[in-house]
Amino acid sequence: MRTAQMTIDPAFAIGAADRRLFGSFVEHMGRCVYGGVFEPGHPGADADGFRTDVLELTRELGVSVVRYPGGNFVSGYRWEDGIGPVGDRPRRLDLAWKTIETNAFGLDQFMTWAARAQVEPMMAVNLGTRGVQEACDLLEYTNHPGGTALSDLRRKHGAEQPYGVRLWCLGNELDGPWQVGHKTADEYGRLAAETARAMKLVDPSISLVACGSSNRGMSTFASWEATVLEHTYEHVDYISAHTYYDPSDGDQASILASAVDMDNFIREVVATADHVAARLRQPRKLKISFDEWNVWYQSRLQADLDRRGWVEAPALIEDTYTAVDAVVVGDLLVTLLRHADRVGVACQAQLANVIAPIRTRTGGPAWRQSIFHPFALTARYARGTVLRTEPVAPTYPTARYGDVPVLDTVAVHDEERGELVVFAVNRGTEDLALDLDLRGLPRPSGRAHLTLAAGDDPTACNTEAEPDRVTPRETTTPTVDGGRCTVRLPAVSWNVLRFATRP
Ligand code: AHR
Repeated sequence: MRTAQMTIDPAFAIGAADRRLFGSFVEHMGRCVYGGVFEPGHPGADADGFRTDVLELTRELGVSVVRYPGGNFVSGYRWEDGIGPVGDRPRRLDLAWKTIETNAFGLDQFMTWAARAQVEPMMAVNLGTRGVQEACDLLEYTNHPGGTALSDLRRKHGAEQPYGVRLWCLGNELDGPWQVGHKTADEYGRLAAETARAMKLVDPSISLVACGSSNRGMSTFASWEATVLEHTYEHVDYISAHTYYDPSDGDQASILASAVDMDNFIREVVATADHVAARLRQPRKLKISFDEWNVWYQSRLQADLDRRGWVEAPALIEDTYTAVDAVVVGDLLVTLLRHADRVGVACQAQLANVIAPIRTRTGGPAWRQSIFHPFALTARYARGTVLRTEPVAPTYPTARYGDVPVLDTVAVHDEERGELVVFAVNRGTEDLALDLDLRGLPRPSGRAHLTLAAGDDPTACNTEAEPDRVTPRETTTPTVDGGRCTVRLPAVSWNVLRFATRP
């Protein structure tokens, strides 16, 4: 068996494991809203039409923040369409997803749903087809206490207290030629800066996210960030990053190394932001809002869009995830945690049905996809301080990223609860023996080892008929002797190693 070594010491702190790293995303796209979180005719829907099975799974998933209402959708959206009596709301063409938007679900319902799901709302404003005024109007409706036209309109609609939304995205992926209202970096940077300035006049307590690149492969990547930040640095708190990893070509070795790409992406955005800060003599360090990330079989999207004309809530990109995809998602979470000092928010895209951890059948049940499990367990156990780990491990070859380490890890230490949790991914197709040196911790002892192993059945999926085929299993609790232990990480697996750090 191949071996790897790692020393963990609480002195090597990176930063706090911010709860906002466990965010998700609800977009008016496909069946994420309609048939996902909202389905008034469903036997399990509550009085507001929210699916209670999806609400329960959302709470179980441990989601902290939910971004809304898009995505590409927001770039043509009129937020006023989604407020007031449902019968009076207009039906519109949603150009992003070639869909009829009924507006049966809108802002006030999202806020009610978010409270019930126990998540923090994160809103995006439309900077595709709209601008400064509409963004300020939306903010006034949402956050102003009362005594103005729009805040009183909210109160008339039943929300006496302001929603107090703290996190706001200044548009979505405006670097992308597919985006309605696509802009150059200068055009977007100017608009984002002016919108930010005005929004902070309406409510100075908000935090703002400027749009970074849609992905690291964009030809404008890095120069887009640099130009946008030249315009916006003093007004914003975050720059966004988005990425999706596509397993469609069947290259398992490469897809398992996706976190290598995410890691480089984060380092490059940080370097770009710090470069701009240096040029502007800005001492404040900007953070990243990684507000879209996931595994996505993207090659299926065009077929979904080609198949139909204008319809309501069609099934779009309802990817069924494999056990390998779950290991990849677990590894992407490891990467986000490892950058806890510079990534302040992260949202897996999306929550229900659309490339999502939660799947539903309209009128039927809801179930956990394979990728649900690494998210839920990371959100549950990554509490406290993220620690730097420097594993020494063998490498394996990949077509996409060259030679990469078989092992990826991060550790989180919760001093208060007396627990150290090591998240460890074995990307290799052989079992790996991991030698851990925990002598820097007072009296460590093994508590549990949970593993999601894809090696035996990489294509296994959870389906309506078999919803629990891919689930993490408890294996032998690690034995710590003299502060050292060896743990066997199965081939292609994502692992949670829990240790008590005091008797
Ligand atoms: O999450 C699906 C889509 O991917 C979002 O609408 C868009 O922002 C991204 O390109």
